[in-house]
Amino acid sequence: MKSEKDSKYIDLGERGKLNLKNKLNDLTGKEWIKFSKSWFIHTPPRRKEDEVLHPAKYPESLVEEFITFFTKENDFVLDPFLGTGSTLIAAGKVKRNGAGIELSENYYNTCLSRINKYGFENKLTPILGNSENIKELMIQNNIINKFDYVITSPPYWNQLERNSIRQKARKDKGLDTIYSETKSDIGNIKEYDEFIEKQAQIFDQVYDLLKDKGYLTIVTNNVYFKGKLFPLAYDTAISLTKRGSKSWILKDEKLWLQNDKPLIALGVNSAWVGNRHHQFCLIFRKEEEANALKSK
Ligand SMILES: C[S@@+](CC[C@H](N)C(=O)[O-])C[C@H]1O[C@@H](n2cnc3c(N)ncnc32)[C@H](O)[C@@H]1O
Repeated sequence: MKSEKDSKYIDLGERGKLNLKNKLNDLTGKEWIKFSKSWFIHTPPRRKEDEVLHPAKYPESLVEEFITFFTKENDFVLDPFLGTGSTLIAAGKVKRNGAGIELSENYYNTCLSRINKYGFENKLTPILGNSENIKELMIQNNIINKFDYVITSPPYWNQLERNSIRQKARKDKGLDTIYSETKSDIGNIKEYDEFIEKQAQIFDQVYDLLKDKGYLTIVTNNVYFKGKLFPLAYDTAISLTKRGSKSWILKDEKLWLQNDKPLIALGVNSAWVGNRHHQFCLIFRKEEEANALKSK
């Protein structure tokens, strides 16, 4: 006869045991522990033709892992900087619903056609617009429910403007080297501090769209520009924790190690310039109680 302790679990064989009281996801304890490591090496498959035009797409396989950890089946995922729609495609693949905002019509169209090709059963809504108006855009698109999880990769400040060797190779192939020329593209903000503040203002709105105790993952990086490192990942982490009643709780960083990127000669025989082959996945949580306590 099964004891009371045993009936809380379903044995999923190789995957391990699923605790029926798991509040966050549909993973077994074994899978949970595996994901909790603070770094991972992720080698994505080569990008397909319609995806390669975008200068900084993240792999669906990576997003899938995060979504699977931070949500349950049929939950709702949001991406305020949608690009070519990797987040929505990852969401569809693991049977979650989702919505996202993209400013560039080109990338929005790529996203639409990619989603249509898959024919997912879940509801996936890409929206063409400016994330500075994200709350308004959700109302206009009849999205009134709160999201369970947010994952996104905003522009890395002015990183694409740099005339790096990698950018030159893209230019030579006729591929995009910037997202767009419009002023509302936050990747076109010249001043670093202004970028940090604008980015934080958008996440203030995202805060209101996420359910309490929901998580937010931001994939970003520090940026080397004009001979020095701008600590964009660290400043992103700090700035979002200092937003008054909309302060996020920073929970962790998870490092994405890119072991497949070729090394290029940077500063050789002259000075230190690193080959940056990792990215930061910053993990935040919305905890209303913590903000309420602060205001007392
Ligand atoms: C790092 S890319 C995201 C790529 C995406 N994760 C993917 O896999 O395709 C950042 C995206 O933010 C978009 N963007 C920049 N400013 C925006 C804004 N104010 N509102 C909405 N999207 C914006 C850019 O056009 C770009 O596609």
